[in-house]
Amino acid sequence: MDVAEQNRFKKAAAEAAAALVQDGMIVGLGTGSTAALFVEALSLRLAADRLRIKGIPTSRNTEDLARSLGIPLGSFAEDAQIDLAVDGADEIERGTVCLIKGHGGALLREKIVAAASRRMVVIADETKLVDRLGSLVAVPVEVVQFGWQATAGRLAKIGGNPSLRFGKDGVPYLTDGGNFIIDCAFGPIGDPKEVAHRLDHIVGVIEHGLFLGYASEAIVAGRDGVKTFRRSEN
Ligand code: A5P
Repeated sequence: MDVAEQNRFKKAAAEAAAALVQDGMIVGLGTGSTAALFVEALSLRLAADRLRIKGIPTSRNTEDLARSLGIPLGSFAEDAQIDLAVDGADEIERGTVCLIKGHGGALLREKIVAAASRRMVVIADETKLVDRLGSLVAVPVEVVQFGWQATAGRLAKIGGNPSLRFGKDGVPYLTDGGNFIIDCAFGPIGDPKEVAHRLDHIVGVIEHGLFLGYASEAIVAGRDGVKTFRRSEN
């Protein structure tokens, strides 16, 4: 799939999600190239349908984009409960709608917003669908800077093949919270809950990019059109 085609699919998924937004909603605004297309589609809907909503952005980048498009922003101080969060993903597991997120570096705020949302809808082109999480990408893990080498050692012990993420400038990548990211290449993960449980209990780990049980549905666009995959209840 070439980049232009992939972008068309991302846009189609983003527009389908923007159609879900209703007047008065508090909307979680995701991060990444697909989420940015959602924010753009949302701004067009607000203008066309005169919707009054408030957005809660998951990163400084998304906040800047939303402000530039005139989308009113709220905060957790005023709105602890989000009606609908829309975000992209790096991998979406068929059947469970479990995700790997965080290749854009915003996984901590993304998970806080997802956890505070009544409904989380993930949007993507079809290249993100997998049968097993970890098949295509590593699991990003946000860690405190202090003692990161020790944290990386613990990640290695659980099979994470850890590597510290660097920015284009050749220095360690810093999240919006000022933390490091260690990408953990587990390979295809047989038991994501077990891996998440282990990551949750490693000292120095702030949060990880396994999003299990957050999204209720995925809007995925591809050559066969735009499809909605819902989490199966079993
Ligand atoms: C940001 O931290 C990520 O979780 C993104 O949502 C994810 O990387 C998907 O990004 P794209 O839409 O750019 O592929």
